[in-house]
Order: sequence, then structure tokens, then C-alpha cells
Amino acid sequence: MAVIVQLVQGLQTLAGNLTNPANLTQILSTLAIGIVVILILIQIAQRINVNKNAPPEVPYWIPYLGSAISFSLNPLKFYDDNRKKYGDVFTYTMVGRKFTVCLGIEGNNFVFNAKLADVSAEESYKPLTTPVFGKGVVYDCPNNMLMEQKRFVKWGMTNDAFRAYVSEIEEETREYFKRWNNKVGGRGDLFTAMGELIINTASRTLLGPEIRALMDESVAQLYHDLDGGFQPINMFFEWLPLPSYFRRDNAHEKMRAIFMKVIEERRANNVTNKTDMLQSLMNQTYKDGTPFTDRDACHLMIALLMAGQHTSSTTATWALLFLAENPQILKELVEEQKDVLGSLDAPLTFDHLKSMTLLDNVIRETLRLRPPIIMILRKVLRPITFPGTDYVIPKGNYIAASPIATQVDEQYYKDATKFDPHRWETIVEEETGETVDYGFGKIAGGGARNPSLPFGAGRHRCIGEAFAYVQLKAVISTFVRMYDLSLTEKGMPGSDFTKMFVQPVLPVEINYTPRK
Ligand code: HEM
Ligand SMILES: *[C@@H]1O[C@H](CO)[C@@H](O)[C@H](O)[C@H]1NC(C)=O
Ligand SMILES: *[C@@H]1O[C@H](CO)[C@@H](O)[C@H](O)[C@H]1NC(C)=O
Ligand SMILES: *[C@@H]1O[C@H](CO)[C@@H](O)[C@H](O)[C@H]1NC(C)=O
Repeated sequence: MAVIVQLVQGLQTLAGNLTNPANLTQILSTLAIGIVVILILIQIAQRINVNKNAPPEVPYWIPYLGSAISFSLNPLKFYDDNRKKYGDVFTYTMVGRKFTVCLGIEGNNFVFNAKLADVSAEESYKPLTTPVFGKGVVYDCPNNMLMEQKRFVKWGMTNDAFRAYVSEIEEETREYFKRWNNKVGGRGDLFTAMGELIINTASRTLLGPEIRALMDESVAQLYHDLDGGFQPINMFFEWLPLPSYFRRDNAHEKMRAIFMKVIEERRANNVTNKTDMLQSLMNQTYKDGTPFTDRDACHLMIALLMAGQHTSSTTATWALLFLAENPQILKELVEEQKDVLGSLDAPLTFDHLKSMTLLDNVIRETLRLRPPIIMILRKVLRPITFPGTDYVIPKGNYIAASPIATQVDEQYYKDATKFDPHRWETIVEEETGETVDYGFGKIAGGGARNPSLPFGAGRHRCIGEAFAYVQLKAVISTFVRMYDLSLTEKGMPGSDFTKMFVQPVLPVEINYTPRK
């Protein structure tokens, strides 16, 4: 009883003190001093390196949040500034996690070729990907199953399949741009156009005509909701009860139901003669006899849709922006179109695409300067030493590769920030001779020391590269044959780093004039 009385009296005195302005100032200043002392202590604690062999750490003022703000404003500048102070390997803190970035070609090689027992991609990406893709595929299964899934997918990306895709992509492109002003031209929303065109062409070719037919209505909205749940925030905060999370989960269920219905219809009608990827995914079994179910096929198709969409649509947008900025290159590109096709209206084929070297180099150069993926993560499962140093990266950290650092390095590319597709005519890609097969076909073994790695390397290397090139080349070929283009008075847009995939700052408009 006495305790309660004392407590009440104490609270009354405190309340009295708080409402007295003189006391309030005193309390606030004590509080301020307290906070400063804590912040200084945090700084000192950061500098006492408990683990002598740990890589250098970027200091920060705000506990938990760490360097999150300066990193997300411009990760490339953040890496560049800190690289000057600490070298190629250093650790920064973001949202309570430690990231050790490994720059340079040795850094790329270290991350991409790290051993399965040492690091894990799924531990890094799972919170983001599993709710969107669904269970049992990609990062929600053991790595050996992912390797087999990549093999299943590659069967839908053969040259025979590509032969069929090229005319479909050209047709989709011509159809799409009917909505632009084809008499006098105008200003077009390039980013929106490329986003819609890539989803239309990818669904028509890989996912099949049934799903393409639904793309204008239901599926496009579902895709939009899934995309809203595929953002950096989803990676850091798994359980936030945000409306976007509910929309994401709802969209996932509905998307799977739509894909499932298409599969069931094909089965009911005994369809076996289709050559698209959907048909190949309907008919797969793991090596150990485990069936790859229709549900797995639906989830893998959602994953492919997400993996290919922003990567390809931002690349198409940047490539056309670079062409608009460089009229001389655009002119040469149109000449190449005439040379290879005979005339600007001749129908495009896969063999034509293979002969368009400058077009190939325009895409290669765009991906060197504006790769959509600038950070590749693996979670460290047991302490690993960075080769050639004493640095031991502790278990629980994430290691990060950022191949864009070498892609814009003067050491490897003269006038590194200049858009010059011709530079690729003289670059001989390093050939080490050795190849590795992780289960989805042979890839270059020493490839991770290549300074340009927009598609990654090692066991997690992209399997969509060949498809992306076919799709991008067919879209850009058709586009530049239809229109002459130039930048608006706003010039080249900057980069928005707050999205999962780096994209131009919106809106992106372009001036276009029909070629006739
Ligand atoms: C310009 C277009 C593209 C770029 C720049 C790109 C880039 C990348 C990169 C950097 C990785 C490695 C990720 C890591 O190591 O953590 C990757 C993996 C992958 N990509 Fe792509 N990609 C593109 C298009 C596509 C397309 C069109 C598809 C499918 C249709 C696709 C499917 C995949 C898959 C399945 C993986 C494997 C993930 C893993 O094994 O962990 N990508 N991509
Ligand atoms: C598909 O095949 C099954 C078994 O061979 C047969 O019973 C069924 O009638 C066929 N369906 C159609 C639509 O042809
Ligand atoms: C599965 O593959 C086998 C062998 O290639 C083929 O005969 C069969 O028709 C395929 N089934 C479906 C549903 O595509
Ligand atoms: C597949 O078979 C159906 C009926 O058996 C036929 O109508 C269709 O044209 C065939 N498609 C291809 C791509 O061969």
C-alpha cells in the first residue's frame, strides 16, 4: 500500500516538474547529453574491432538502420567513396544486418563461385521470393533441385523455340505501337511501353498463347500486385501487415489458379504438340524420380515472369535512350537493319537477328553501363577467408557482389562511362577453356573473373540471357525500323536505386517520328 502511495506521489512530482518550463529544459538537456553520450559510445564500440581479422567496417550514427539511407540514395557512390577508404572488401550495416561487399574481379569471383557449404543464396532471397513465386521452387527448395529446375526451363529456350518466338515478338511490337501517333509522331512514354511490351511478348512466347490472351485484363493487374510485393522492404521486413503484402498474397493465389487452369485444359484436350515452355514444364521429373508437379510448374512460371520482366524492360528502355542520345550510332544501326533485312519492312527471323552484330553490341554496352541488378547476395554459413588477405568474413554476414563496379572501371574499359557499342568489336572475352556443369548445362568456369557480368556467374548464373537477347533484339529492331527517335529537353534520366531492379527515374519520355 505504502509503495503505491509513494509511486503516485513520485509521479505527481514528476508531472509537476515536467509542466514547470525551467525543469523541462533541464530534463531535455540531460536527455540530449545522454543521447550524445550513447551515440559516441556506439562510435567507439564500432572502432574496437572485436574480431581482429574481420574486414574494415563503415561507421554509422544511427544504430540498427546503419548506412541504409546513404546506401539506398546511391549505392554506387556509397561503394565508390568507401572503396577509396577501405579497399575492395569492407562491411556496412543496414537494418540490423551486416553486408560485406567484395568489389573488383577477385570480389566477383569470390561471391559468384563461393562453395555451396560456405554460403547460401536462398537464405538471402527467400523472404522476398517465396511469397511471390510460391513454395517448392527456386529458393524454397534445396539447391540441387533449383539446378534441375533451371535445366527444365532451358528446354523451352532452344534455338528451335527461338525461331518460333521472333516473328511473334515482331508482331506483338507492331501491334502495341498502333496506339502511338503513327501519322506525325509525338512524345511517347517509353518506360510504360517497354514494360507492357515485354510482359506481352514474354507471356506469348514462354507461357503460351492462353496466358497471353489473358494479359490485357486479369493477369496484368495481378502481375502489378505481385510486383508491389517484390520490393527491397519485403526483403528486410517479412511480417509487416501492410496492404501491399495482402495484395501480393492474394495475387499469388489467383495467378497460380489461372496458370493451373491453363495446364488442366491442355491436359483435358490431350495437347502434346505445343513447343512453348509451359508444355515442357508440364512434363518433367527430377533425376531421383520426384515428380515436378503442375503446382511447381505454376510457381516456376511466376518466378520466370518476375525474373525476366524488369530486367528486360529496363534494358530495352535504356538501350533506346542511349540510341536517342547518340544519333550517329542510331543511324549506323538502321543501316545494319537495311543491310541484313534487305528492306526495313521485311519480316524478321532468328537468322537475321544472329547477323545483327551492332545491335548485339548495343545491348551488351547498355548492360555494361546500366545493369538492372547491381547487388548479388549470399548469406555466409561458416567463416570464410577472402583470398590473398587476412580477412575472415564471419558467419551470419551477407557477402555482396556488385559487378557494375568493374563494368565502369577505367582499368578495364577506356572512357568507361561513355556509351560506345563499337568497343565490343575488339574485346576478346577471356576464354579459360574450362567449363562447369552445375546441372543446367555447361557454363564458362573462369567466367567470374570477366569484368562484365550483368548475368552473374557460377551456379546461380542467369539462364535467361539467350532469351533476353532474342527478345530485346527483336523489340529494338522492330522499334528503330518503325521510328526515328530523339531525347526530349529533359535529356537522359538518372537512375532510381530504391527498386529491386535499378530503373530510370520516371517518367521516361521520348520524341518519336514514324519512318514511313
Ligand atoms: C536483361 C535481362 C536479364 C538480366 C540482366 C538478368 C540478370 C541475372 C543475374 C545477375 C542473375 C544472378 C543472380 C544471382 O547470382 O543471385 C540471374 C539469375 C537468373 N535469371 Fe536472369 N536476368 C535477365 C533476364 C532473365 C530472363 C528473361 C529470365 C527467364 C525467362 C531469367 C531467369 C533467371 C533465373 C532462373 C536465374 C537463376 C537464379 C538462381 O540460380 O539463383 N533472367 N539473372
Ligand atoms: C484424351 O485422351 C483420353 C485417354 O486417351 C480420352 O479418354 C479422352 O477422350 C481424350 N480427350 C479428348 C478431348 O480428346
Ligand atoms: C511428355 O514427353 C513425352 C516424351 O517426349 C511425350 O511423348 C508426351 O506426349 C509428353 N506429354 C505432354 C503432356 O506433353
Ligand atoms: C496440334 O494439334 C492440333 C490438333 O491435334 C492442331 O489443331 C494444331 O494445329 C497442332 N499444333 C501444332 C503447333 O502443331
